[in-house]
Amino acid sequence: MPSRFPLPPGSMIGVIGGGQLGRMLALAAGRLGFDVTVLEPEPDAPAARVAARTLEAAYDDAEALRSLADTCDVVTFEFENVPAAVVERLQMLGALAAPGQRPLAVAQDRVNEKEFFQAQGIATADFAAISSPADIAAALPRLGARALLKTRREGYDGKGQTWVEGESDAEAAFARIGGKPAILEARVPFVRELSVIAARGRSGEIACYPLGENHHQAGVLRTTLAPARASDATREQAVAIAQATLEALDYVGVMGVELFELDGGALLVNEFAPRVHNSGHWTQDGCEVDQFEQHVRAVAGWPLGRTDALAQVEMTNLLGYEADDWRALAADPSARLWLYGKREPREGRKMGHVNRLRPLP
Ligand SMILES: Nc1ncnc2c1ncn2[C@@H]1O[C@H](COP(=O)(O)OP(=O)(O)O)[C@@H](O)[C@H]1O
Ligand SMILES: [Mg+2]
Repeated sequence: MPSRFPLPPGSMIGVIGGGQLGRMLALAAGRLGFDVTVLEPEPDAPAARVAARTLEAAYDDAEALRSLADTCDVVTFEFENVPAAVVERLQMLGALAAPGQRPLAVAQDRVNEKEFFQAQGIATADFAAISSPADIAAALPRLGARALLKTRREGYDGKGQTWVEGESDAEAAFARIGGKPAILEARVPFVRELSVIAARGRSGEIACYPLGENHHQAGVLRTTLAPARASDATREQAVAIAQATLEALDYVGVMGVELFELDGGALLVNEFAPRVHNSGHWTQDGCEVDQFEQHVRAVAGWPLGRTDALAQVEMTNLLGYEADDWRALAADPSARLWLYGKREPREGRKMGHVNRLRPLP
């Protein structure tokens, strides 16, 4: 049977999730002649307004999933908290999902994710699985007096996390995260947060972008500077971590891997996102092929594109009302402006970003 890959232009790519990542995926897909169908329950979503077609329905809506499977040549995700049953259902209906069910299932649960990394021999923070305040009290002596409690599922942008201030705080800390199944992590005394955006194609080839250096504010990514200043050894470690992760998951598509750099240059992995990643937005103006086109290339079975940086880029997220400055930003020749078309600015909401280019150091 002839392979359906590489998908020819004109093929339909399904994207589950309708946020800004889906919007930028749809724009990149359009550039290569593909069409996109978005599945998203929220009306008027950022991705829906640039997609060829939108299914406005719940992610597990049987009718919508059938329609996706019937009309899309491949289905991908811009959002990792899609119920695993949805991917199973899609595959039963004959759809090809990329990445598949396993990367989503691993990334959706912080305990599974940490156990997965350790099974690959990749170092993480020490941790304990938590289902009660007693579990917290029991784990603190091993993890250190100050440890970070995170819900196992559905956290993002620092939501669902709280520092535990010693044993006397166990009960209150568990209540602060809603009493949900959780992970308790030792505090990592990192000197920097780095990330690597990596891609794996259908024939198993891997391409990694240069490292980004990330700065967070109140749990939300504020800026990425890329390529980050890093030693060859640090870069090689990051690439080895990304490669082992992609291969162990038989992954197809782009993945974001968040890293902690320790004093001395050793890396711990924090988490991975089975999708394009905010810390990869710099590639839109810093590389010949950006992470969105790279993801489309990978899931469509096209060869991966070049990942070397053509410039150094500082990416700044526009949060909440900051995007209201679009007039000034549009008039700033050093700012390359990306806006997501969200109707309502809310405190801390990602409304757009700006890439500022400099010559490579
Ligand atoms: N074990 C840890 N030690 C120190 N800081 C941490 C630890 N885990 C997370 N953080 C900080 O919190 C931020 C958000 O945590 P993360 O696990 O990446 O959750 P999210 O899914 O919300 O991005 C990280 O980028 C880092 O700044
Ligand atoms: Mg994170």
